[in-house]
Amino acid sequence: MADPDSRDGSTYISAAILDFVDALYHPQSDVMLASLAAITARGLPRIQVGAGDGALLALLVRLIGARKVVEVGTLTGYSSLCLLQGLPEDGRIWTFEENPVAATAARTIFKQEGVDHRVAVVEGQAGEMLSTIEGLGPFDAVFIDADKEGYPAYAEWAIRNVRRGGLVLADNAYLFGYLAGREPSARASAVDIAAMQRFHRLLAANCSHATVIPTPDGLAVGVVP
Ligand code: DHB
Ligand code: MG
Repeated sequence: MADPDSRDGSTYISAAILDFVDALYHPQSDVMLASLAAITARGLPRIQVGAGDGALLALLVRLIGARKVVEVGTLTGYSSLCLLQGLPEDGRIWTFEENPVAATAARTIFKQEGVDHRVAVVEGQAGEMLSTIEGLGPFDAVFIDADKEGYPAYAEWAIRNVRRGGLVLADNAYLFGYLAGREPSARASAVDIAAMQRFHRLLAANCSHATVIPTPDGLAVGVVP
């Protein structure tokens, strides 16, 4: 029998451990629960970040004293609300969402919560729309959590528009387990795999302290030099 104390490169995390950690550290506010409920109610995919990822995002932007954050991929605003928790009262988020159903749901939730003056939802393809906010930069952090094919272009934009010492962050850095050494599938196409690998090479080449925090699907982070 395998030695249960031997890690052989894998993780100690289990569903029971995650439940314990989430219950203790990640209580979900009413608005966060509303954002999750809106995903199901509007028939959107349940692909929001986990509670632990959200707490980590808030911590990271808090640690760099961020006030201006850009998010690529809003869904119904769950991760925007997490990021907002790490910002001061005058902190602002610009979040990009191409699905009009999701963008409308997010706007509704931000308005209900009274944070709509702090979170601007920009509807449309981020690849086309990011340039519209360049004049408001430089930004303190960019969080990428959208179409995987777009990650290299989003990272290049982030590196150009984040201040020195700011952060480039990206969800799904392990590409659902397909980042390396697995055949493409319906979950991750060859194009997605090539794009995610290119994203990682860009981060490694252009940021300092770049790494992947081992969240369930990896959170890539790099400091803009
Ligand atoms: C999926 C998960 C994500 O976090 C994401 O950004 C996109 C897709 C997924 O599980 O399919
Ligand atoms: Mg994601």
